[in-house]
Amino acid sequence: MYSIYAAKTCGLSVAEGITDRKPCFSWRLKADSACEQKSYRIRVSRLDGDCLWDSGIVGSSCTHNISYEGAKLQSDTDYTWQVESISSDDITATGGGRFSTGILDDSLWQGQWIEADYERKPITDCIEGFKSFTGQMPRHDDPRVILDPAIYFRKSVEISKKIRRAIMYVTAHGVYEAYVNAHAFGMPLAPGYTVYDKHLTVQRYDITGCLNLGANVLSAIVADGWYTGRIGMMGVGNQYGDKTALFMQIFVEFEDGSRSVIATDKNFRWSVGGYEFADIFVGERFDARLEPVGFKLPDFDDSAWKPVLVRDYGTARLTGAAIEPAAIIDSFSPVEIITTPKGETVVDAGAVLAGFVEFTLSGNRGDAVSLEYSEVLDHEGNFLQNIMGQNKNQKDYYVFANDGIANYRPKFTCHGFRYVKIEGARNPKLLDFTVHFIGTKLEKTGDFTCSNELLTKLQENIFRSQQGNMLYIPTDCPQRERQGWTGDMQVYLPTACFNMDMESFLRSWLYGMRLEQRDDGQIPNVIPHIPSNGYISFTGDDETSSAAWGDACVIIPWQLYRAYGDKAILAENYEMMSSWLSYVRKSAAEGRPEGYDDMSYEQKVRQSYLWNTGFHFGDWLIPSLTKSGEPPTMGAFKTKELVATAMFAYSAELLSCAASELGKEEDAAKYRNLNEKIRRAFAEEYVLENGRLTSEFQGTYVLALRMGLVPVNKREAALNRLVELIEENGDCLDTGFVSTPFLLDVLYEGGRADVAWKILFQTKCPSWLYEVKNGATTIWESWYGISEDGKRGHMSYNHFSFGCVGDFIYRRILGLTAAAPGYKKVRISPDYSCGLTHAKGSFETVFGQIKIQWKLENGMPILEYELPPGVKLSE
Ligand code: BGC
Repeated sequence: MYSIYAAKTCGLSVAEGITDRKPCFSWRLKADSACEQKSYRIRVSRLDGDCLWDSGIVGSSCTHNISYEGAKLQSDTDYTWQVESISSDDITATGGGRFSTGILDDSLWQGQWIEADYERKPITDCIEGFKSFTGQMPRHDDPRVILDPAIYFRKSVEISKKIRRAIMYVTAHGVYEAYVNAHAFGMPLAPGYTVYDKHLTVQRYDITGCLNLGANVLSAIVADGWYTGRIGMMGVGNQYGDKTALFMQIFVEFEDGSRSVIATDKNFRWSVGGYEFADIFVGERFDARLEPVGFKLPDFDDSAWKPVLVRDYGTARLTGAAIEPAAIIDSFSPVEIITTPKGETVVDAGAVLAGFVEFTLSGNRGDAVSLEYSEVLDHEGNFLQNIMGQNKNQKDYYVFANDGIANYRPKFTCHGFRYVKIEGARNPKLLDFTVHFIGTKLEKTGDFTCSNELLTKLQENIFRSQQGNMLYIPTDCPQRERQGWTGDMQVYLPTACFNMDMESFLRSWLYGMRLEQRDDGQIPNVIPHIPSNGYISFTGDDETSSAAWGDACVIIPWQLYRAYGDKAILAENYEMMSSWLSYVRKSAAEGRPEGYDDMSYEQKVRQSYLWNTGFHFGDWLIPSLTKSGEPPTMGAFKTKELVATAMFAYSAELLSCAASELGKEEDAAKYRNLNEKIRRAFAEEYVLENGRLTSEFQGTYVLALRMGLVPVNKREAALNRLVELIEENGDCLDTGFVSTPFLLDVLYEGGRADVAWKILFQTKCPSWLYEVKNGATTIWESWYGISEDGKRGHMSYNHFSFGCVGDFIYRRILGLTAAAPGYKKVRISPDYSCGLTHAKGSFETVFGQIKIQWKLENGMPILEYELPPGVKLSE
């Protein structure tokens, strides 16, 4: 057997409306004997016939991201592709897929941006630093006071001839659901989140069967979404503009061969309707009494609706799909309805997730049911809203229009939750509710189970946190900020790539990062960047880039290259990576730390290689500092000098590797040289004679050892000191975001695997298994999410960053390490002394699936594994 599966176009299983002019094709292989692909041949044709590209027989084992090299692709066209793969045993396997292009030629856009002539309420949100974040700003119990209704648009259209094909393109300022007669279109929260002022995606829908001969209606509801909604850490509105808007265009082909275009224009009319407000964070309120019943259908009287305003927002920034669509990725019944000690009715979804709850309940006209979402109950079992801060209500309302049964599912919002407090419902029962988990549909690529139930559960929790934070962009948490924090993704990336196919999703996000890079090379800490994030400098000035966050622009392309083996990832980001490093270099060279004037000449010289000025997050969220109640900025302050310099060295090291992979040998040498100078400066400035560091934290030792900043003759002493700090801390970790990904490996590689295992299997707080033992279903932002006395806090319970240990578990326990980019070569070497009796798992490389299992029998290890065609064991 030799077969092809998982064929993808541009890395997508669903490639509808792509605007990549040179799409690439990938497939994976399965075989029942050891072999590899000897050659492949790709053919691409229009769906209606013509072959546009025949690659010919190419002798290669490559199965990933092979670029189209045929005739120019046309806009709005359906294509198919086939691949024939021939194995080294001369067996042929075939596979392939379909894709459709979006609009490749800007002049084809005829649609106009339309808006409602609606007077929105002025923004009164607090924009003062942490005031809004720390709960000092009262929440509006009735958000109607500050929020605006969703806007409804409609237009009637006559169709006089039989239709052969009709394709609709839609996007919006805000989030939309579009309708062709009664047929609804729109992923959850379409068009998703991108760097809107420079990049906005258009969705493509085949509506051929939805238009009728005679009268038809095109309509849409547009809500605030990320465009005008209360987004980011501060929950401030209007970050991209102060009005929502709609853009639609339909290409119609008639049976007789003629064509026409229907698009948004001045003939649309608008109104408000049932959505009295619909904010992506605050929640939505749907009053069914206010819904213009039948507005999607032709005989509706829209004479009371108003004409729209036409706006010139242009089409140059419109692009097609580049990531998998967002979707309801899972729907299930909640596990329980709880009556809390206080008498509240709370639906328990069974696990922390991102999405919303649907209900079917009975009531009378005017009855209001509310659903308020939270991730935890308090220590007595009562409902606790775990997210403080302005506009973080997470509460939806439904008002009945009639007596009887009604069904309601939130549409323009999304929440981070496990528990939902229900108010106003008459006799709610478990079966009345359905939980929907939403996110971008990324393929699951890794799997792990082992003899330790807690550790197996930990990997499940890590995966669930990842799922809950992949909605159009990678986010820090789904309930409080839902922002693309660069540092979070960077620390978690190796684990993320084990769990899911992250390639196209993150390449698209990196495109946003390139768009957001400042002229001086700075990378905003959050991508997409929003003006209200100016607070990140803590002075309220424009944002400055922090070490380890901005460094994501180097680390992420490098790690993606390691995971998927495609040099194009390095090539397309190289300029961003190098201009970031120039910025860091300049900041280090020009920054004048305190006491500079009194420094010796040598000290002054090395200051150029120490990134010891400016604002940084340091080793963010060091557990002992969190426990003692210090604000996280204190940990940042205490560690930032060493952390920033370590990251400077790390980025120089990775950039040198990237340059070398791209054949830029001169650059490679330049960055290698820079890395050496930083390492020397670090050693002279921060490493004492006895191998200790000037800043004594577990994390500073971890980073210094991992980045090679401690001279060889002092490494043992530094490692011993790290172990001492761990022992003094009761065999518990005390590392923050930046150093945690390296902690166990530094111990392991330093010959102290015993300490690494102690930390991994630790069940006291702070530890991974402490969270699991305390009922966690995701990874928490703080290890003290449930403190030892059972108290719960106001924080995120769905933050994947500390889940970065997943990667260590895959590598050291399952035993799988990539020995070459894209896993072309692998090492399989589980550590049988880890304390477990068996482990089992799999991983989808770009070639195909690797399966591994091992067990101890009478103390003797038995290892079994399978490699796909093309993957070899490294010598
Ligand atoms: C976010 C983080 C982020 C951090 C910056 C927090 O509020 O939730 O995950 O990286 O700020 O340090």
